Amino acid sequence: MRMIKWQNGTVITPDQTKLPLQEATLEIKTVEQMAEAIKTLRVRGAPLLGAAAGFGVAIAAYRSKAKTTKQLLAELETAGALIKAQRPTAVNLFWGVDRVLGKAKTFSGGVEELKAAVIEEAQKIADEDAAQNRAIGKNGSVLIEDGDTILTHCNAGELATVEYGTALGVIRAAWEGGKKIKVIADETRPLLQGARLTAYELKRDGIPVTLITDNMAAHVMSKGLVDKVIVGADRIVQDAVFNKIGTYGVAVLAHEHKIPFYVAAPKSTFDLSCKAADVTIEERKPEEVTHVGCQQTAPDGVAVYNPAFDATPLKYVTAIICETKVYYSKDFPAFKKGKL
Ligand code: MRU
Repeated sequence: MRMIKWQNGTVITPDQTKLPLQEATLEIKTVEQMAEAIKTLRVRGAPLLGAAAGFGVAIAAYRSKAKTTKQLLAELETAGALIKAQRPTAVNLFWGVDRVLGKAKTFSGGVEELKAAVIEEAQKIADEDAAQNRAIGKNGSVLIEDGDTILTHCNAGELATVEYGTALGVIRAAWEGGKKIKVIADETRPLLQGARLTAYELKRDGIPVTLITDNMAAHVMSKGLVDKVIVGADRIVQDAVFNKIGTYGVAVLAHEHKIPFYVAAPKSTFDLSCKAADVTIEERKPEEVTHVGCQQTAPDGVAVYNPAFDATPLKYVTAIICETKVYYSKDFPAFKKGKL
């Protein structure tokens, strides 16, 4: 199912903050609405953020009343800057904006043609992501054996992409290929993407899923209940994989228990120009930690640290599953040279 659609200047996408209790649809008509949806995680997940970023710039083009291409380009730059300012870690957000702006800057033609080219480029990002996730699924499914139990963290599923998912894409492809697999989903505090979104998607699709709290991962691994770990990524740099907070801990646990730790991500998630130390980790508001939903669970005024992502050093990663190939540890040194 398509998670993001362009319909005559309006972007249609699920409001992920409402799931799993309510299947609400957002109709995003302005760049400001897109920025708000990204900031509040109504739209979330690295590959979906790439597509949303492209469509955000496309909305600016569609709504523009600019008389000259120079004026239009300036408006697109402003829209792109607003979108990029919403979240700092997932590189796809920046990549999506830059790809559409890059197209606009090199385009020669009138205002209306430029608008059409921008919208077309945004649509292309979405179409390509859908195809890439199927390819990731196919490449990764060969790593999964019949009967495997796979632990995943956060939501790297259909909801986090344009279609099919990355980590859950691999799981879906294995399941569709007839492998009888099971999934263990970490609930993923503080915003519960595992409980709200991964459990929802897999349950809906009939793929056996068992939900655990994050602090149960060590125990289930020590009991021999996990054969593989597969997660998505928000940014892959020369020396690490950034993903939802808690991923690093899961990777260390997998290493200790000799369980393969796989990352599934499209090439748009790679940023080999930088190292882990160069990446800004998003810090979110204290209420996400002091409350569960609307219920306060901590004393008023307690100090809170709420990083949304962490960096897993590549030494803990068994392989990275991409749309073109699977990168193993022997391939990782090339990342330092910026090569894929
Ligand atoms: O804060 P979120 O929900 O946007 O974080 C999402 C993740 O960390 C996902 O695991 C990642 O984007 C990969 S999605 C295919």
